[in-house]
Amino acid sequence: MTEARDMILAGEKTCLGPRRKDLLQTYLRWINDPQVNCYLTMWGAAMSMEDEENWYEGMTGSPEHRLLTVYDRENFKPIGNTGLHHIDFRHGTAEFGIVIGEREYWGRGFGTEATRLMLDYGFTGLGLHCIRLRVFSSNERAIRCYENVGFRRAGRLREAERRGNHRFDHILMDMLHHEFESPMLHELLADEGIIEA
Ligand SMILES: CC(C)(COP(=O)(O)OP(=O)(O)OC[C@H]1O[C@@H](n2cnc3c(N)ncnc32)[C@H](O)[C@@H]1OP(=O)(O)O)[C@@H](O)C(=O)NCCC(=O)NCCS
Repeated sequence: MTEARDMILAGEKTCLGPRRKDLLQTYLRWINDPQVNCYLTMWGAAMSMEDEENWYEGMTGSPEHRLLTVYDRENFKPIGNTGLHHIDFRHGTAEFGIVIGEREYWGRGFGTEATRLMLDYGFTGLGLHCIRLRVFSSNERAIRCYENVGFRRAGRLREAERRGNHRFDHILMDMLHHEFESPMLHELLADEGIIEA
């Protein structure tokens, strides 16, 4: 059972905590749901528990990936995953990803808040300089969510992906450190006297 003390970052309606092995079955359900994975490059996923365990072990062992689980702050129900991937500490760059796997939570502001918290983790916590992402051109809800937190469109990869015989572009988006206002960690570090307010 997840509790408040397990959380790493908290917003008004959502909070982020560590990924959990006991949630692998839930993660698997999210990623194999065609109504969820139709927005992802892993469209048509049919992952087995073994695939899921291998993925989890890969994440756990690698400093290049930070994956956090997104919870409903009201009851600590796990509702999705978010991550920073291919983190390059030399250049201060990473790729952002998010999946709200519990579909009844879509369109209620959870993804926007979780994205903002994960960016806080990356920019304020890890000191990254640039966080980027790519999104499927028809995923208007995700694009809106990313624009709401301050991601800017940086380019387009034409016909990068397909669903059956239909091809779609990828929109590239990015954000720089100075374009982001920390919702939580800056104040926490300043209150502790670790950085200047
Ligand atoms: C993309 C995702 C993370 C967004 O999270 P969310 O909680 O659903 O999004 P939010 O409610 O915070 O924000 C969505 C925004 O898009 C708008 N929106 C919702 N449905 C929309 C639609 N069908 N078309 C266009 N905009 C839409 C909302 O109004 C909101 O904008 P606003 O705050 O300016 O009004 C989530 O829907 C999800 O995980 N989807 C499936 C997997 C996925 O697409 N992952 C991202 C891959 S790049």
